[in-house]
Amino acid sequence: MAHGLCDTLCLADVNPLAVQACQKTIRENRLEDNVTVYLSDNLTDIPFSEKWDLVVANPPHFKSVSTKKISPEIIFLDKDWVLHREFYKNVGKFLKEDGALVIQENTLRSTIDSFKDMIESNGFSIVDTPVCSLDSRYYYIWSRRTPK
Ligand SMILES: C[S@@+](CC[C@H](N)C(=O)[O-])C[C@H]1O[C@@H](n2cnc3c(N)ncnc32)[C@H](O)[C@@H]1O
Repeated sequence: MAHGLCDTLCLADVNPLAVQACQKTIRENRLEDNVTVYLSDNLTDIPFSEKWDLVVANPPHFKSVSTKKISPEIIFLDKDWVLHREFYKNVGKFLKEDGALVIQENTLRSTIDSFKDMIESNGFSIVDTPVCSLDSRYYYIWSRRTPK
């Protein structure tokens, strides 16, 4: 918002601590009129009145635990990509017709092929998959609705 990319913002996380941090930021920056935050397990607690132009997400990046991780599982573990699969299945209900998705992933434990089927089978097409210029461990999957 500070860079003028958007006028309004909707945030969501399942972790109450993350939601509290967002609420504090909203309050301290007087953004109540333009920013909404939901405590939501994936998209299940988002009201259908929400219709987005752009969805940006940084979901848990690993589908299993195979290394000793310091951060809690809620940060990094999406067991067998269940969260990703549910996300791509349902996100269309909240996306405007010409909306776009930009999802950050991690080259250490996934490739584009990990998600391609779940993206395409839910009516989306991959537009591009740029690597993060600041840290090449991260890449982004940018997708849009497949034209009918
Ligand atoms: C890689 S961290 C990203 C944190 C932060 N959003 C960012 O971009 O820096 C993954 C986030 O996904 C959240 N998360 C994990 N499981 C979730 C679920 N079922 N529904 C919603 N959010 C979830 C975690 O609480 C954590 O904040």
